[in-house]
Amino acid sequence: MIITLDGGAASGKTTLARELSRHFEIPLLESGQLYRAITFRALQEGISVENSQALEKFVTPLSLEMQEDQLEWRLVINGKLDNPQNLREVEVSEKVSIVAKAPFVRKRLLSLQRSCYSKKRGGYLIGDGMDLGTVVFPAADIKIFLKVSETIRAKRRQEDFKALGMSMTTEQVGIIEAERDRIDQERKISPLQVPSGAIVIDTSGKTVLETFLELIRLINIKKHESNPVYRIIRSLAAVPKFHLNLRQEGIENIPQTGGFLLASNHLSHLDPVMLAFASSRTLSYIARNSLFQGSPLFAWLISALNAYPINRENPDRKTLTQIIQFLLSGHGVV
Ligand code: DC
Repeated sequence: MIITLDGGAASGKTTLARELSRHFEIPLLESGQLYRAITFRALQEGISVENSQALEKFVTPLSLEMQEDQLEWRLVINGKLDNPQNLREVEVSEKVSIVAKAPFVRKRLLSLQRSCYSKKRGGYLIGDGMDLGTVVFPAADIKIFLKVSETIRAKRRQEDFKALGMSMTTEQVGIIEAERDRIDQERKISPLQVPSGAIVIDTSGKTVLETFLELIRLINIKKHESNPVYRIIRSLAAVPKFHLNLRQEGIENIPQTGGFLLASNHLSHLDPVMLAFASSRTLSYIARNSLFQGSPLFAWLISALNAYPINRENPDRKTLTQIIQFLLSGHGVV
């Protein structure tokens, strides 16, 4: 599953993508960092990035590769990683959109970004940027576009600069950001656009936590709905229903919409499976964690069937929070 978060400068995409990556333990691709890293190196070498030929001459021989470190994809240039702090310097922020509009830069970074997603490696990625839902991953499963008002944006960036020990007025920051957005939106190649099929969220009047919870809800619903194993297994329900002459009673008590909790009998191992067969709503299961620690095949199967482990020995806040989120998102939980 690929989740993309696109948006203009200071829309909150990077903070939110980072939080989501930690919450779901999904690798993060912060694509702005890639453009920043190239800009930083070019400036370090004294290249005038406005001079397209000089920039191309500098970029072409660079050895570029992606490296995943602690759930984060980063660009290694000539075998070396840069300090993320340096990539946020004012000079880099001022020049990066000039580097980002160069076709030869975008072309090289495109395949590198795509290489961060591989179905084999668990098949999950969260990417944030400006063209992730439009160009890099147009077939992403969930596309989000974040908007923000200019005043809020200038305030947020001012805080970012302050955290780096740089004092700037809101007006100064506003000018830098407005210029950067203008170049990003007006460039010919991969301009900042709302991807088709994206959910647009205005983060102006919202706290990070509010938007974060909204995104978690969206992602959980999507993960839930796009579960092919669950759908295949449930389509087999007709077989036991027909052969075993199973009877369903009280099925009308399962609500057609909204979250609900099913506290099931568990006399036989088949009981939870039968619930999935009986209910027309897709269910999530909370199962003891030891079930996930035995056979890897069984663990994979039950995970694929929406089962989530719970620690029965000690309070398990993470799973309890997840159950609450499922219920708030309108899921049925067993
Ligand atoms: O998100 P950020 O501020 O770190 O982005 C830095 C610059 O890189 C900004 O000018 C937009 C550009 N960028 C881009 O052109 N395409 C992306 N996918 C991500 C960022």
